[in-house]
Amino acid sequence: MGDQVDFTINANMHSAFLREIDRLRPAVGRADLADPLVTGGIQRRYRFFSDTLRTHHEAEDQCLWPVALARATGEEKAVLTAMESEHVALSRALDSLDGSISVLGPDTDIAAVQRGFDRVREVLAGHCAHEERDAIPIVRRYVTKDDLKGFMERTRSQEDSDLVLPWICDGATQEQVSTTWSMLPGFVRAFVKPMTTRKYQQFSRECGV
Ligand SMILES: [Fe+2]
Ligand SMILES: [Fe+2]
Repeated sequence: MGDQVDFTINANMHSAFLREIDRLRPAVGRADLADPLVTGGIQRRYRFFSDTLRTHHEAEDQCLWPVALARATGEEKAVLTAMESEHVALSRALDSLDGSISVLGPDTDIAAVQRGFDRVREVLAGHCAHEERDAIPIVRRYVTKDDLKGFMERTRSQEDSDLVLPWICDGATQEQVSTTWSMLPGFVRAFVKPMTTRKYQQFSRECGV
């Protein structure tokens, strides 16, 4: 049962979140923040990143950890509870960065914004490594494909959810690209991959990042 669930996409997403921080942080540093078109593009791209990260963590908090917690041993429960508190810490760091990005302009303290990115990256990198190493093996033991339906519905409800798969693949390794698209059945992939990839390319062009 649990061992039939493949969580490769979870790790692929974690890599994409970290890559996105590495894309946005220098973009803020070199941007002309007096130009509203430029700041608008950065804000749009950042909003997608922040929404996708929050949706990912909400789906884990609502649909993964509770299912595993109900079936786990005492030691396993401690790991799963740590996942929830790491998400809270990440959410606080993200709230602060969301605030800085929402008021980007000529008077922005760029170094302070970049420290905000560094803080989110530090908390996120630590959490993702902990989750992949200790929590996912527990989840694999207890969470079935049926349990995952709520998780998938939650992630699909996000605004711009159709940008997520091509975004995960942007800058990813060949293996990450192929394991990401192979989540979809072949006949769906044949239609969805080119359509969403075009949409993501247009989104990137419009954001200018
Ligand atoms: Fe995750
Ligand atoms: Fe997580």
